[in-house]
Amino acid sequence: MIARIIGTGSCLPESIVTNDDLAGIMDTSDEWIASRTGIRKRHLAKDETTAFMASEAARKALENAGIEADKVDMIIVGTITGDYITPSTACQVQGRLGAVNAVAFDINAACSGFMYAFHTAYAYLQTGIYKTVLVLGAETLSKIMDWTDRSTCVLFGDGAGAAVVQAFEEGGQQASEKEMMGERNGLLAFEQGSDGARGMVLNCRGRLNHNPLTTNPFAPSYVSMDGQEVYKFAVSTVPVSIRRVLGKAGVEVGDIKFFILHQANLRIIQSVAKRLKADVDKFPVSLDHCGNISAASVPVLLDEMNRKGMLNRGDKIVMSGFGGGLTWASAVIEW
Ligand code: COA
Repeated sequence: MIARIIGTGSCLPESIVTNDDLAGIMDTSDEWIASRTGIRKRHLAKDETTAFMASEAARKALENAGIEADKVDMIIVGTITGDYITPSTACQVQGRLGAVNAVAFDINAACSGFMYAFHTAYAYLQTGIYKTVLVLGAETLSKIMDWTDRSTCVLFGDGAGAAVVQAFEEGGQQASEKEMMGERNGLLAFEQGSDGARGMVLNCRGRLNHNPLTTNPFAPSYVSMDGQEVYKFAVSTVPVSIRRVLGKAGVEVGDIKFFILHQANLRIIQSVAKRLKADVDKFPVSLDHCGNISAASVPVLLDEMNRKGMLNRGDKIVMSGFGGGLTWASAVIEW
């Protein structure tokens, strides 16, 4: 069985907020943010909801793949900022698209959310349970930021990205001309992990518990992060994860055309490139104009590259996500 990405899409909120705009409302500067992170601006939702952005990204991905919504068997959304606890964002996407034959659910793996969803999709495809899966990462992080904490709120943005993943039998009949696009090999290998013991270095509590029967009601909170610990986690874990997945796929660092990393910080990306002894030019960047959009960052960047024509048949690509949980996940795909 081959699991291929056959279409991508993304949606960013209309409103763009520059570092200078932020400097107008808090004690920060373009110089501090850009030099520490590489971020220059981000899209922040005004009226757009997580479900709206996810649905738009999904619609574009289906269009890009040439697939009708009723052909989708499953929708998985990686998100920590759904508009509702229930219904899930995936169910909302299903309803908005009219994907009547799809089963839909969300995954909470923070910035690894899209990669976890992609690997979960693969498990269903590989066992033959489903054939076509919509995989998304969608976030409205601006609503869980502490806007009085300049060390976190300047880092994040909002948006959604989607990919249509389809199963093909090796050497089997292709379903349509669009699907015949290649002798592409799809997902070659993946690996993922979690470290709950260190999870509190990046946390955000749920809503207020006002149950009168409890003696320990807790207040909700916004995102709180030990930036340096998260930084150390990322630069030590991601290169190991990528080396591991390359080993599983039987390919070398030099065989990889692009390393599409979760977009948290330019310095993290540069450090990973250095540790892998890979050319930093192979690490495309979107955080300069998107900031960190958590689960959405990998699929948004993938879609940008796809639409620019940067991805060619046969290219080997690494995708890697890491973040809250703590969680991480990497895959090698052949486009
Ligand atoms: N503007 C101006 N100054 C700021 C600031 C801002 N937005 N945020 C923090 N500062 C100040 C601090 O108050 C501190 O000042 P002090 O020395 O007077 O106390 C100084 O800058 C240094 O803060 P520090 O937190 O030590 O900076 P840092 O070099 O560790 O950089 C991060 C902070 C967040 C950029 C960095 O730790 C990081 O990128 N970590 C990884 C975070 C991440 O990627 N998270 C998501 C993972 S999915």
